[in-house]
Amino acid sequence: KKYAEITGWGKCLPPAVMTNDDLATFLDTSDEWIVSRTGISERRVSHVGTSKLATVAAQNALAAAGLNPDDIDLIIVGTCTADEIIPNVASAVQQNIGAPNAAAFDLNAACSSFLYAMHVATQAIQTGAHKKVLLIGAERLTRILDWTKRESAVLFGDGAGAMVLEASDEEVGLLASHISCDADARDVLSLDFGLSFDRFGFDGIMQFDFVGQEIFKRAVKGMNAAVEKVFQQTGLSTEDVDALIPHQANKRLIDYLAKLCKVPSEKTVINIQNYGNTSSATLPIAFCEAVENGTVKPGDTIVSAVFGGGLTCGAGLIRW
Ligand code: ACO
Repeated sequence: KKYAEITGWGKCLPPAVMTNDDLATFLDTSDEWIVSRTGISERRVSHVGTSKLATVAAQNALAAAGLNPDDIDLIIVGTCTADEIIPNVASAVQQNIGAPNAAAFDLNAACSSFLYAMHVATQAIQTGAHKKVLLIGAERLTRILDWTKRESAVLFGDGAGAMVLEASDEEVGLLASHISCDADARDVLSLDFGLSFDRFGFDGIMQFDFVGQEIFKRAVKGMNAAVEKVFQQTGLSTEDVDALIPHQANKRLIDYLAKLCKVPSEKTVINIQNYGNTSSATLPIAFCEAVENGTVKPGDTIVSAVFGGGLTCGAGLIRW
């Protein structure tokens, strides 16, 4: 049996920091409200497009893997903030890094995109269809935020994370995954083009429309069920887990999930305070930081859980 080993990891966080106090200079909000409700203290704001963030994260991941771009045979970019609808972000990354032997596509499952992409890429490697895959989660959410709406403007940030997966005979990588979609809840989180997107042009402001408490309830339920499924698939349990890496949308939600899954706080990876919700990029950025600061070590078993608009949901059991 083939496995898809994580051989590279990288991230790109734009240097410009926007703090809660910065937001409070033009919105009716406060550091106290934002921290107590979400756990976010600051976020990054990019002045370059999603493809450029994706490219830097990809180059870092390739360097960590010690691979040349020529070696990559598939590039998948999880994103809901592509610079253009066509061509996709993945082809821009392919061009920027010079990876002529790769197929390239974007995948949109909102904030769940990276785990969805890992699920797809792992199976592509297990079937033998692909051998070296570059996976990226990249978002420039601040470009599309309505900065007059405090309920959404405070939540999101920009960034990108990447992984390289390579075929291996060792029992490593994404050992089990479960992805799902609760389509009856499609309406609880949406980001539409509104009336501003038509054949005459697009004025750049989209409307986030979401019912926070409903998302909270459904996300916790969906992620907990998905985590149970991956434990069942592998015969592992919470005691075998060295780290929980959840999607970073809200610290209270993460704490609640960790409690349900019985993972202690010292094993739960949280960086939302620094970056806010970077959608598809939260999982690879958090993985990258956990590797860099030693929270995650070679041989560790990691459980990841994600959710996003759709309402998409998923969990993965990763052996690094
Ligand atoms: N600053 C100050 N006050 C605010 C702000 C703000 N930035 N935003 C909202 N408020 C006010 C509201 O107007 C409301 O005031 P009112 O009681 O006078 O009407 C009050 O705060 C409470 O608002 P709620 O929306 O009920 O606040 P809640 O405690 O539910 O927190 C939050 C909102 C953080 C979004 C929470 O519901 C949550 O984290 N949900 C899950 C994650 C989520 O929905 N993320 C966004 C979508 S992206 C994704 O998750 C994939």
